[in-house]
Amino acid sequence: MKIAKRMNLLGSETAFAVSAEAAKLGATGKKIFPFHLGDINLSTPKSVIEAAKKAINDGKTGYCAAPGISELREALAKDVGNSRGLSYDIDNVSVQPGGKPSIGKYIAAMMEKGDSVLYPNPGYPIYESQIEFYKGIALPYGYVNTSEGLKLDFRAIEKGIEKGAKHIFYNNYNNPTGASSSNEEIEKLAKLVIDNDMFLISDDAYFDTLYDGKPKSIASIPGMYERTLTMYTFSKKFAMTGWRLGASIGPKNIIEQINRLNVNMESCTTHFVQYAGLAGLNAPEKETQDILDILKIRRDRLVEILNGINGIEAHSPEAGFYVFPKITNLLERTGYNDVEEFRKSVLNETGVSFCGRHHFGRPLENESDYYIRLAFSGINIEDLEEGMALFREWIEKSTK
Ligand SMILES: Cc1ncc(COP(=O)(O)O)c(C=O)c1O
Repeated sequence: MKIAKRMNLLGSETAFAVSAEAAKLGATGKKIFPFHLGDINLSTPKSVIEAAKKAINDGKTGYCAAPGISELREALAKDVGNSRGLSYDIDNVSVQPGGKPSIGKYIAAMMEKGDSVLYPNPGYPIYESQIEFYKGIALPYGYVNTSEGLKLDFRAIEKGIEKGAKHIFYNNYNNPTGASSSNEEIEKLAKLVIDNDMFLISDDAYFDTLYDGKPKSIASIPGMYERTLTMYTFSKKFAMTGWRLGASIGPKNIIEQINRLNVNMESCTTHFVQYAGLAGLNAPEKETQDILDILKIRRDRLVEILNGINGIEAHSPEAGFYVFPKITNLLERTGYNDVEEFRKSVLNETGVSFCGRHHFGRPLENESDYYIRLAFSGINIEDLEEGMALFREWIEKSTK
């Protein structure tokens, strides 16, 4: 049997491979400290669970419309519109089985073979995978390390635009770096997009997980409404990673094309899960605030512990589930010159499992520092502290 050549172009989300590796080690009896995946070990809000049960009992178990049930589309149009100061209606919303499908569907619908597409790297690895699978030219842009954290590398973005990029993926707040854009940065990026007649996919996976203040969306900048497709997901805000519910939200002509892909790919998103999502959008804010409050405690403790280790520099992310510390000096101290080797040694010897920068896009040529990513969404505070104590001990033991 011959596998189609195009499958050689498809990438992956290698954090799942790290997760499988850790699970295998765990099966031998070793205690695992899971810092590898942006999954959540907290319960989905009660109102969401109850609505799902009711929807099943009410018989919402058959097919439904490919763009999603109208009640959920309306609620999303209102919720996403209000939080961004924009006006959307039902035809601006296509319900999806998670956030991820919006990425590949946008590419399939809007990118011609040979088109150049800018994407963040380090970044969510599915951008690179989907651009290349559909035979586009993936142009990475990185981040610059500043005293305020990692900031967009505008030189790389401008270089990509000079090369003719017409599409750009933007993930504010970013996985894996924890980087968030200032208003100036968002405005500068929007200006580049508008001046160069580009289109932007705003991956808003962590928009609703900002710990303090109000989140900002690039779609709100004048001139960007018609140039932005927002990738919405219920996964993070509502601790619903395994339910698979999200949406593409943006200009009607793009949503129409994405709806056509829905028919071809999954017919519709799970019917009763859409009622669960609807209940989430209508639930008291406290239900999701409780999740954020727990995550914030974990974030603060993890950043504090990491910065107490000689050779590690960690910024505290304003949103999201990830700390992305620089470990260049730590590698030197422990005699490693490869993050993957370092990661494997730590995992096998301590059970502490995290990802390396290389799990988030092919490393760029000019990179001179080393980073790892630790997720704090899937580990409780006691295990977080126990795991970090073992990590610290291992470092002391391994220091040359
Ligand atoms: C930046 C980013 N985009 C998209 C996704 C995919 O979200 P979902 O699990 O809802 O498909 C994730 C999940 O971790 C993510 O971190």
